[in-house]
Amino acid sequence: MEIMASAPGKVILFGEHAVVYGQPAMAFAVNKRAFINLKPGSGEKSIIKSSDLNLAISIDLNEEKKDFKREKKSIINYIIAALYEVHDGSPLDIQLHLEIPVGAGLGSSAAVTVATLAAAYQHHHKKISTPQLAKKAHEVELTVQGRASSLDTAVSTYGGLIYLNEHGEIIPLNFNLPNSMVIGYTSYRGNTAVMVGSVREKRDRFPEIMDPIISSIGRIASQARKLIAEDDMDLNYLGELMNINHGLLDSMGVNTKEISNMIFNARRSGAIGAKITGAGGGGSIIAFCPGKIDEVLRVLQKTDYALQVDLSRTGVKIH
Ligand code: MEV
Repeated sequence: MEIMASAPGKVILFGEHAVVYGQPAMAFAVNKRAFINLKPGSGEKSIIKSSDLNLAISIDLNEEKKDFKREKKSIINYIIAALYEVHDGSPLDIQLHLEIPVGAGLGSSAAVTVATLAAAYQHHHKKISTPQLAKKAHEVELTVQGRASSLDTAVSTYGGLIYLNEHGEIIPLNFNLPNSMVIGYTSYRGNTAVMVGSVREKRDRFPEIMDPIISSIGRIASQARKLIAEDDMDLNYLGELMNINHGLLDSMGVNTKEISNMIFNARRSGAIGAKITGAGGGGSIIAFCPGKIDEVLRVLQKTDYALQVDLSRTGVKIH
């Protein structure tokens, strides 16, 4: 039987990097998804294909497991690692379709991991609860990429707006955010593991300076949580929190000239808040631009890539 599962990408609104040190963070699912089509294979090996990414590989899932530490961080490895967790090794035919642009900081790897796990559990008629699926997806991310918080995989599993508190608990939030978010991204992609490592190095060298910065980012996330719960939320206040969060990320060393250009161009064109989203070091920005979406898109697209993203309440789904 053919199974299709999908999961959304994510945008981190507040708290990237600090979340790795146990600080709270906030992120939302977007209306761009990863789709996994899975069916029993006809050949001896499993086939994993994606025409969006122009790739196709064949792999015997019964052979010795890959050592992901030695592998390139290809998105295909997240599919393979997810299958190692659930699947018995018999040949499969898997198609990946991505609406999420890879390298845009929209969490394509987490979405692919969650969708693959959901499809594989369904294929084996095994039940898994939402919290268990989020946990399993986080374990898969850790296997493939080393250090990672559970934020991306939680958002891809649950959908909506998620707050990860200081105890690592996933708290779905109600939200009344207007759809006014634009993502800008460069063609150069930062490497998450490298950026997380460079922040750790800085923190080890300057603990007394970096620890307060990390906890300030956590306080921004917790203030944003309170703000978002208000009926008449002050949008400018939210934007300002994003701008402060960006300044602190800059001090952690994850900003680049290209990101700075995008940030200032977005703000100059009417964004009331703009910050790095995700790991930085290349990668992407999120700009909050109520009433100014077209202006911000236009200015970002002059030099880089940009798209509007809307918040999506739909998490992982079997179609
Ligand atoms: C990457 O999307 C976000 C980081 O905080 C790393 C993580 O949370 O695993 C930089």
